[in-house]
Amino acid sequence: MRNEGMEDRLQSWSTARVLDELRRRQARLEQLLEITHELARSQVREELLLQRVAERGAQVLAADALGVLLIRDDRFAVRGAAGDAAEVFGDTGPARARGALATAIQTGAAVVVPEIDGDRTVVAVPLRGAWEVLGVLAAARPAARPFGAEDVEVMTTLGAHAATALENARRYREVREADRRKDDFLARLAHELRSPLAPIVHALHLLDRVAAHGPQGVQLREIMARQTRHLGCLVDDLLDVSRIRLGKLSLRPQPLDLRDVARRSFEALQVARHAEGHEISLSMGPEPVVVNGDPARLEQIVGNLLQNAVKYTPGGAAIHLSVESSHEAILRVHDRGIGIDPEMLPHIFQMFTQADRSLDRAQGGLGLGLALVRALVEYHGGTVTAESAGLGHGSQFTVRLPLCASLPAAATGDPSRPRPRPTRILVVEDNPDAREALRAVLEMEGHRVAAAVDGFDGVELGAAFRPEIAFIDIALPGLDGYEVARRLRARDDGKRMMLVAITGRGQAEDRRQAQAAGFDGYLVKPVVPEQLFDVIARVPEAEVWD
Ligand SMILES: Nc1ncnc2c1ncn2[C@@H]1O[C@H](COP(=O)(O)OP(=O)(O)OP(=O)(O)O)[C@@H](O)[C@H]1O
Ligand SMILES: [Mg+2]
Repeated sequence: MRNEGMEDRLQSWSTARVLDELRRRQARLEQLLEITHELARSQVREELLLQRVAERGAQVLAADALGVLLIRDDRFAVRGAAGDAAEVFGDTGPARARGALATAIQTGAAVVVPEIDGDRTVVAVPLRGAWEVLGVLAAARPAARPFGAEDVEVMTTLGAHAATALENARRYREVREADRRKDDFLARLAHELRSPLAPIVHALHLLDRVAAHGPQGVQLREIMARQTRHLGCLVDDLLDVSRIRLGKLSLRPQPLDLRDVARRSFEALQVARHAEGHEISLSMGPEPVVVNGDPARLEQIVGNLLQNAVKYTPGGAAIHLSVESSHEAILRVHDRGIGIDPEMLPHIFQMFTQADRSLDRAQGGLGLGLALVRALVEYHGGTVTAESAGLGHGSQFTVRLPLCASLPAAATGDPSRPRPRPTRILVVEDNPDAREALRAVLEMEGHRVAAAVDGFDGVELGAAFRPEIAFIDIALPGLDGYEVARRLRARDDGKRMMLVAITGRGQAEDRRQAQAAGFDGYLVKPVVPEQLFDVIARVPEAEVWD
């Protein structure tokens, strides 16, 4: 009896132990699984990732040190450390621990060292990437708790997942880096393309005034003007896109009636030549639909949607624009054009997306319009959606914007500007074409113009010629535009001079810098003659920040 009782107790004792062991293993596996999921999702920076591997690995192995060491220039560098891993596996650590790391790399397999410095045991596994060994994962524990086969398995699994996560993090970083370079390139490209546009616009304006050359000449100039405008729009789109990508777009919102925006866009489209033949209609209620918006940007939104409707509605079928208000402002552009494939529909607001990607597609364009529309609508706190019953069934785009209480009571009336009078003008521009075109446009208006070819020349002429206003390019050789402004301002007769920067860069930071240098105004290339005349008309008013 006594023996039987003893056996029973022994049996239940060993069953309990087995159960405990199973539970322990299950908990460990769950922990490991949790880590691998975490690593698979992780898109964090490399250093954070490696530190996380070290900390979580130390937990699951109950190790008092766990290090992630990467190979750099044939040496190990500790990149993640839990416990005293940096001391155990770093350059000054025990030779046997360092030896284990090297062996793991050489053999490509796990290495267990039962004892390194009397009271510790070590396990090391290689971190194998797709093409090369990236480093090694190493853990240390008191020698009294040696690493068993199961620990080695856990380490090996952890090492494999850590290597994959590390490679993903690196790839992710490379992609981000390439994306950033592309954004920078787009910004630079748009900026560079802008500069040659300015003299062309000026020269065209002049041609209109000086050379008739019969009907053919007029026609040719019209073509040039139209194409230049088109080029200007493409460049502006590119600039806007890069501003949005770099988070540098700023709005100037004000309460306004969305019906006015729709009306202006509608009229602009009717005037535009390419809308000929389309039957375009506009409907809206009698009550104002007030939103807080940047008028130019809202027109850009509606203009883009209308242009698309025209572009993708061959044969001149009906296009309808409507504005209404319920609990939000709603603007719709509906066409009976080529429609949009349901598979394409979710993607059309992405940058560079075009349903028909063939180079010889009739419509042209960069695939930026809708990406801009969405970004601008979202900047206004709204949403934009597209619907289409499929190819051949037309499309409808709906913009929803938050309503705003009401229009401000005070009328903002356009204050009448003083008529331009002959003015003494200094132009500082190093690009000969841009300089001469600017000079010619200004002289044509009856102004007296002195033109300087660089910064030093500009300061000298500024002193000798004593202009009332100076248009100064910023990127000048030798002395830049800011410095020219500072030096002119430093002179007694320079204090009242009106200084206007003309530059290809239009970021808020550039404006701030120009203001700090003493400029009264700032124009972004390409500057059309009307902008110059506007500014000149305001002499001697100061503060012409456009
Ligand atoms: N009203 C529409 N009907 C049919 N397809 C459209 C319509 N509007 C846009 N799309 C599709 O969505 C794509 C993206 O439009 P988006 O305006 O962004 O670029 P795009 O018109 O090709 O070029 P961009 O506007 O830069 O000149 C178009 O290429 C076209 O395939
Ligand atoms: Mg478009």
